[in-house]
Amino acid sequence: MMNMNRRNFLKRTAGAVAAASLPMGTVRLAFAQQDEPFTFAHISDSHIQHISGDDFVRNWDRGLIRAVAECNLLEPKPDFVVFGGDLAQLGTKPELDHGMELLSELDYDIHCVMGEHDYYLDLGEYWEELFGPQWYSFDHKGVHFVVLNSIVTYDEWTHERWPSAEQRMLEMAMLDNPNGSPFMVGEEQRQWLSDDLSDVPTDMPVVVLSHSPIQKLYKGWNFWTDDAEEVQEILQPFDTVSVIYGHVHQIQYNQIGNITFHAVMATAWPWPYPDTYAHADHDMPEVTVPMNRADPFFERDATGWQIIPAADGRVTMNYNLYNNTNRSVAYNPQTGRPEDMDFQDPNTRVPNQIHY
Ligand SMILES: [Fe+2]
Ligand SMILES: [Fe+2]
Repeated sequence: MMNMNRRNFLKRTAGAVAAASLPMGTVRLAFAQQDEPFTFAHISDSHIQHISGDDFVRNWDRGLIRAVAECNLLEPKPDFVVFGGDLAQLGTKPELDHGMELLSELDYDIHCVMGEHDYYLDLGEYWEELFGPQWYSFDHKGVHFVVLNSIVTYDEWTHERWPSAEQRMLEMAMLDNPNGSPFMVGEEQRQWLSDDLSDVPTDMPVVVLSHSPIQKLYKGWNFWTDDAEEVQEILQPFDTVSVIYGHVHQIQYNQIGNITFHAVMATAWPWPYPDTYAHADHDMPEVTVPMNRADPFFERDATGWQIIPAADGRVTMNYNLYNNTNRSVAYNPQTGRPEDMDFQDPNTRVPNQIHY
């Protein structure tokens, strides 16, 4: 069963690798005239957690199982699914194997993003065996997609500070831990990104898939990427850029220059907005739309997954929030920024409806 799932899964992820390895000119020629609307689904932050033997934390399993089942029932069907990172809790083989087994139930091709909970035990070695390269790009119907590993950090922290790999993983797994270290994309990937994009026409829409926000929101919780400005600079020449990230387990949206930012929900648990919790300094944009409140009596509350239509290179985030009103955040060409039209007055940016 496991082998069968794994074989099927590798077949589905192989598409991404094949697209990445084709000469880019060939790919672009093939898709040049196919700039047509399409949808993809996005599932993230399942944090599959091993207890012992065959036992895993049931609640985190259920979140992923339900998102996968709902994706498979979609009509029209999405072209592919993105998994946004933190598949595992502590990056162990049982967790990654079990997470892959649950994801292998998807009826679609899948593109996986590396999260810090997947990475810091063996620095992504086993994850790569299961899911392929940690960063790559592919083209789909006139849109250039880039997958980044945005959760690497400084070499000294990674290689010299901790007595064991397990300790390093535990330190990075904590949200509010002064022993942590800021995430970044790093010089190697920034160079790769520059090279990759040098061949992409500036009027071709670009969608970046990362785990951490490629912006600086709140350092204390690593809602942060230390070289965000340098990555944004590489993306600056393009007319239409969207960054879709996981990690924050909450709805966030922002516009910096030409780049539209969207966060996705976790299937495991919600985080509160930082300024509702701590009075530490942060650069979080003013939050105008409160997150749907978590109900402790409903295990899936304030968790969710996304179905994302893309048209003219712009993505619209349709959030599927289990027992809450679903929400939709779309780019408003009049104001030049993403807005939640059901919850927010487009002029005042004040919430016009709050559903608890
Ligand atoms: Fe997470
Ligand atoms: Fe994360």
